[in-house]
Amino acid sequence: MNLSPRRVGIIGVGHVGAHCAFSLATQGIVDELVLVDTNRQKAISECQDLQDSVAYLPHRVRISIGQPEDLAGCDLAVISVGTITPDENRLSELFTSAKIVREVVPRAVRAGFDGIFINITNPCDIIAREVWKLSGFPKNRVLGTGTALDTARFRAVLARETGIDHKSVTAFMIGEHGASQLCLWSNVTVNGKPLAELEREFPGQFGHLDRAAIQQEVIAAGWLTYIGKHATEYGIASALARIVHIILRDERQMMPVSALLEGQYGRSGFFIGTPAILGANGVEQVLEMRLSPEESAAFQRSCDIVEENVQKLEK
Ligand code: 2OP
Repeated sequence: MNLSPRRVGIIGVGHVGAHCAFSLATQGIVDELVLVDTNRQKAISECQDLQDSVAYLPHRVRISIGQPEDLAGCDLAVISVGTITPDENRLSELFTSAKIVREVVPRAVRAGFDGIFINITNPCDIIAREVWKLSGFPKNRVLGTGTALDTARFRAVLARETGIDHKSVTAFMIGEHGASQLCLWSNVTVNGKPLAELEREFPGQFGHLDRAAIQQEVIAAGWLTYIGKHATEYGIASALARIVHIILRDERQMMPVSALLEGQYGRSGFFIGTPAILGANGVEQVLEMRLSPEESAAFQRSCDIVEENVQKLEK
């Protein structure tokens, strides 16, 4: 019987990392969590608080604190370092985030971490590529949470507007996890029934969707969350938990994540939000979606922004 525990390390247990840990523990997705933070007292306190929850969970979880080197035996390492800047521009965090991952990623890899990196740190797509470069790992073993969170926001708005539960709405945000991302409207379906058909057949329920306003609402959602609590945490933790669940159980489900493009959409060499199949090997397949001409132009602009910022880090 192979009863090897599912181990996940979390580098950076601020608001985001701590909520990721809680979601992974309470949802029964992992058996062991290793919490890493430069603020040792914060890591100790988060560890204690999480341990206090275990007695009331229907499963056992072991939680410990450690250094990046202690991730050597983990299946996955989540990177949730850095802070959020209040200027509504994740790109402002580029250099501070890069500095931290340049410190921690090589330490984990040198110590023998040989699993899958999942980057949350913003700017998510650019830092995911930096993690990939620093790790020397094959492309499938590094991904960013990318537009997984924005996709949840998009589906929530569609559910509110149409009265149909999120789970029956297929809809994705693609592009940069930032201001240039876009709603993939041409792909929206209700369990396979295209939005265009629904708009024709049920104009009262679907005809009012203001595409530009909805896209703006989705993009602004993170800042609406930020404004009153100076963090966003439940949404990203839920997206991360879903991604980890799929990978650890080799579910081979489609998720919008930040993955390396290698010719898809005519672009290569950087990470950006796109639907992909996830499984035990991380990113099993990047799926190139069919885009309308307008979507394609917007996606290319988003790619340009990510690429320009990758180049800033290369200098
Ligand atoms: C979010 O979208 C700020 O990237 C963070 O919630």
